[in-house]
Amino acid sequence: MAVATALRPAFGAELTISSVDDLRDPTVVSQCREALRWRGVVLVRNAHLDDDAQVELSEAFGSVLAPGGQQIFPVTLDPKKNRSAQYLKGTFNWHIDDTTSAVPAKATMLTARHVAMIGGGTEFASTYAAYENLPESERERCEGLRVVHSFEASMRLIHTDPTDEEVASWRRLPTQETSLVWERRDGRRSLVVGATADHIVGMPKAESRALLDELQSWTTQQRFTYTHEWQVGDLVMWDNTGILHRALPYEESSGRTMHRTTIQGEEPWNDR
Ligand code: OGA
Ligand code: MN
Repeated sequence: MAVATALRPAFGAELTISSVDDLRDPTVVSQCREALRWRGVVLVRNAHLDDDAQVELSEAFGSVLAPGGQQIFPVTLDPKKNRSAQYLKGTFNWHIDDTTSAVPAKATMLTARHVAMIGGGTEFASTYAAYENLPESERERCEGLRVVHSFEASMRLIHTDPTDEEVASWRRLPTQETSLVWERRDGRRSLVVGATADHIVGMPKAESRALLDELQSWTTQQRFTYTHEWQVGDLVMWDNTGILHRALPYEESSGRTMHRTTIQGEEPWNDR
């Protein structure tokens, strides 16, 4: 058994292991699964997983996605280590991964391989807690609204003056419509907001932007957030469907490198 402590009153759990072998112990793996389900973010310090061990542990939670045939995705701003590095500045804004898929990823796992001396923490915000604490009138206002998510919306935040070719390349990727309030099969509700949220269907543009911004500010207030300061060897896993996240800015020269695995989802956005 690992010792579990809360990261924040509203969400998050740290599991303290006594040796790296604990992560192969089925009891500890099921503690991780429960913590992920009920607490949204799970931290294990001193996990020191290599790539094979990270994939193996990730598989205990579901199928590991392999876009481009690779299960391990290096999160780094160094284009020599990751051909998509140019897009990773997009992680500096609050977001949910994979919103433009019909079935969003269920969970994401990062392991710290090299940490930045300055910046480079990761922040998490619980949209479950944010939704549950919304005033009744605000919850009613959100009811039935639909949001269009796009890669373009997230890229526009980091490229204020894009070229026509850039915009065209973003638009080649699919968009996805979701409900603003997502209700899981188990009845839990969350807010589907963040950098990819482009607009609310049928609402005037300014009003739509104001509502999305207001809900994101509400969700990311301090009482619903946790900031993780990385140490090499840390493992953090989170429920991608209800937890917004963002990287705190860091320089490419910092060498910061995380290895990411993404666990395939099981519940489509539009299930009914
Ligand atoms: C990601 C991501 C955050 C970080 O890889 O999807 O958002 O802190 N990473 O690197
Ligand atoms: Mn992300």
